Amino acid sequence: MTDLERKQRLPVPSEWTYAPAPESRDVLQLRERYGHFVGGEWLEPKETYPTISPATEEVLAEVGQATSEEVDLAVEAARGAYENGWSSLPGSERAKYLFRIARILQERAREFAVLESLNGGKPIKESRDVDLPLAAAHFFYYAGWADKLEYAFPNRKPKPVGVAGQIIPWNFPLLMLSWKIAPALACGNTVVLKPAETTPLTALLFCDVLRQAELPPGVVNIVTGDGSTGAALVKHPGIDKIAFTGSTDVGKAIQRELAGTGKKLTLELGGKAANVIFDDAALDQAVEGIVNGIYFNQGHVCCAGSRLLVQESISEAVIDKLKRRLTTLRVGDPLDKNTDVGAINSKLQLDKITELVQAGKEEGAEIYQPPCRLPEKGYWFVPTVFTNVAQSYRIAQEEIFGPVLSVLTFRTPEEAVEKANNTPYGLSAGVWTEKGSRILWMAQQLKAGVVWANTYNRFDPTSPFGGYKESGYGREGGKHGLEPYLTFDSEAFGG
Ligand code: NAI
Ligand code: MG
Repeated sequence: MTDLERKQRLPVPSEWTYAPAPESRDVLQLRERYGHFVGGEWLEPKETYPTISPATEEVLAEVGQATSEEVDLAVEAARGAYENGWSSLPGSERAKYLFRIARILQERAREFAVLESLNGGKPIKESRDVDLPLAAAHFFYYAGWADKLEYAFPNRKPKPVGVAGQIIPWNFPLLMLSWKIAPALACGNTVVLKPAETTPLTALLFCDVLRQAELPPGVVNIVTGDGSTGAALVKHPGIDKIAFTGSTDVGKAIQRELAGTGKKLTLELGGKAANVIFDDAALDQAVEGIVNGIYFNQGHVCCAGSRLLVQESISEAVIDKLKRRLTTLRVGDPLDKNTDVGAINSKLQLDKITELVQAGKEEGAEIYQPPCRLPEKGYWFVPTVFTNVAQSYRIAQEEIFGPVLSVLTFRTPEEAVEKANNTPYGLSAGVWTEKGSRILWMAQQLKAGVVWANTYNRFDPTSPFGGYKESGYGREGGKHGLEPYLTFDSEAFGG
């Protein structure tokens, strides 16, 4: 028998599965213990806590829990660097550092992507293809502005604000760091940044990049810790501006704390975005957009398309296609290149998702979850769709921040707008239709900072991002993203 004949006699495999395709961890060299990065040096922390991998619950390292004294030291270092050179450096010189940081991020992208997935739980294909390229792009983009501020704001004499305190969440750790640090430095400010307690490691690895780029000591300081560290930073009298991304509750508390202090503030908070599908939309593309809208990054996305609004005449067809598509999503090891949905970021977040899904069932919505085998250790949630959802249900009102979609229907464009805007939030929205005029009309009607048309969750450093209502205020990205980090002569006259 020839080889070919033998092969033809083999039984056809009854099941087609993917072979494991894990990305190697060998590129990483984790330390056992990390301190705070203050004045270009590692400061030995007074207290530490373990940071884990949410996919395995394995301890990755001990990191510092900064006390208010340690926050003091970081602010002092930032003030020193601001006054001793950074703020008076020509923009073209500041740009060189930012370009360098961007290029080093590109060179070390694989290392950062592996660490981001390991510490945060997101699939490697996302950290590799989304988080890292966008983080580098953000530094490249703002490097370009550093020597052109006079042209960006003609006759307004832009000047840096001073020392910025920056507090970021755990859903896009390195990308949020880039959104905060790149414009601040381009405008001549220095910063103290606090990563989220569950995902400090890429920010700590970024300190290596700062040293490699020979950024002057104290221009960027990183302190790790939980909300109490964040609160100490907010309260600190040496801080001139706070930039916060996180929950609406904490955003409100920060706003109260800062009232009357004269500190500048930008808030990027939660969302409950509507993804609106009209009956003339290309349905297969729309289904991909729905999946990308809510299952990308396990739904831990402030602008996630968590409320699906489908025109009634096509709702059955769309929901059928969606359910079929969900059965093909691969949930599991974040470091596997074939994984679509990774681990839930923390036990706390898993509990929140579980509680809201339970509430959805009790309120009377119909739940669908595809058959799915979850790993035994770690934090996981099966991609979920709720149909028969009423606007009053908690799952239609509250931010779940997990892989859970609530489906509602509408008949007319007016009804779609009314339902889409029926939320205390206003961060983003999606519109799927073949009609250009309807896209423009919808974009005008929707009270949302970003409206995507026939796509979803697309990001670009040149485009401003931010919300209405309880989603916060201020814009990040684009030329708009420079303004929070500048003061203008006219402001001295209250203008
Ligand atoms: P959070 O708002 O408590 O945490 C975000 C950041 O703020 C972290 O760095 C945290 O340490 C810090 N922080 C906490 N309390 C603080 C305080 N009093 N003063 C200053 N900083 C403080 O968000 P959490 O508890 O992690 O998540 C709760 C919910 O918030 C999520 O389920 C989700 O709905 C929403 N969220 C929204 C995000 C967004 O991108 N808009 C990001 C993270 C969470
Ligand atoms: Mg919290």
